[in-house]
Amino acid sequence: MSLTNPEVLARTGGREIKAIVFGAEQIAARVAELGAEVTRAYPEGELLLIGLLKGSFLFLADLVRHVARPVVVDFMVASSYGDGTVSSGNVRLLYDPATDLAGKHVVLVEDIVDSGNTLRRLLALLASRRPASLSVCALLDKAAMHSPFEELRFVGFDAPPAFLVGYGLDYAEQYRHLPFIADLA
Ligand code: IMP
Ligand code: MG
Repeated sequence: MSLTNPEVLARTGGREIKAIVFGAEQIAARVAELGAEVTRAYPEGELLLIGLLKGSFLFLADLVRHVARPVVVDFMVASSYGDGTVSSGNVRLLYDPATDLAGKHVVLVEDIVDSGNTLRRLLALLASRRPASLSVCALLDKAAMHSPFEELRFVGFDAPPAFLVGYGLDYAEQYRHLPFIADLA
């Protein structure tokens, strides 16, 4: 799908996007592999995938369809950004998963890890609820922007140091519905 394609411009309201970074087919192939990785990583026990909304809504939906074992899905809503493109360092929890975490393998499903501030706070909170294990599955990782952490066990792609939109990722709540991931600026 080209960026000057009328279908793309219809979705962006005519605003041109700089470049496609990960195409729809490339994303689909990698998400299928991640689903297989998650399946293999948990041969037994109860598995709970917690999607961090809103950014992970498409990723989680596609991912779970490649998880070939019983799984329970829940969500978490945290807000770290306003309408800007720089992390504020503040994380607000707006919805907490209703599912009991104790004794379960918990995987937090995230769209993109940038500074890692959001994750660090949420992981501390989830760890206090005594899951059997706690991991993160992120579609995109800006690894240069944060110190490594061991919970980040499943990563789709290394992300370039750009502001990305599409496939769930937004800029000021726009562009989440693009079928590819693009560099906005
Ligand atoms: P962190 O706390 O700095 O790691 O920020 C993580 C959150 O910021 C992600 O869940 C996204 O919602 C948002 N974010 C970080 N980088 C980008 C980006 O390039 N595009 C869109 N959202 C981003
Ligand atoms: Mg966001």
